[in-house]
Amino acid sequence: MQGVTIVDHPLVQHKLTLLREKSRSTKSFRQLFSEIGMLLCYEVTRDLPLVQTEIETPLAKMQSPVLAGKKLVLAPIVRAGMGFLEGMLSLLPSARVAHVGLYREPRTLVAVEYFFKAPDELAERLVLVLHPMLATGNSAVAAVDRLKESGAKAIRIVCLLATPQGIEKVRGHHPDVHIWTAAVDPELNDQGYIVPGVGDVGDRMYGTK
Ligand code: URA
Repeated sequence: MQGVTIVDHPLVQHKLTLLREKSRSTKSFRQLFSEIGMLLCYEVTRDLPLVQTEIETPLAKMQSPVLAGKKLVLAPIVRAGMGFLEGMLSLLPSARVAHVGLYREPRTLVAVEYFFKAPDELAERLVLVLHPMLATGNSAVAAVDRLKESGAKAIRIVCLLATPQGIEKVRGHHPDVHIWTAAVDPELNDQGYIVPGVGDVGDRMYGTK
């Protein structure tokens, strides 16, 4: 599938299976979600550019690689995206965070913005949109639109699950934006939930249902 990387790492696939089970406790769901976020972060940053810097070990001076450029930005779409944040920040502790507040209007499934706050110099930073459930694609497109309006030029989307229609929508609006996902599930139900999916991520993560 063009523009999409399925993260088929065995640990991701195993943890996703555990997460899907409806009997999983809130605590366990949250923990698995965070662990998957960390593993996805490892994959989505695999090709980050490096630059050589001089350091001194206890024995000698040497040239050694460090990440090049400005600190990248993690942009969770609230609420579900927050579930990836902690795991990702454990690998990227200096990353900046942009909060993107969007909710889905329940009848039309249109994304409505209620909050947006992003760090400066977005144009010079890689932005990772944390969007666990790429369902209709409406929220992903709205988030990328908003980040681009604010100057972002290099954007990637990190998902837990995506649907073919969600991917098509994002690729149609933003062909420059690559998507990483643990799996592509076949369909959406009439309330906009991914099937078989994992259910409502916000509710399962925060115990609100
Ligand atoms: N948001 C969720 O939490 N779950 C879905 O299946 C789709 C969107």
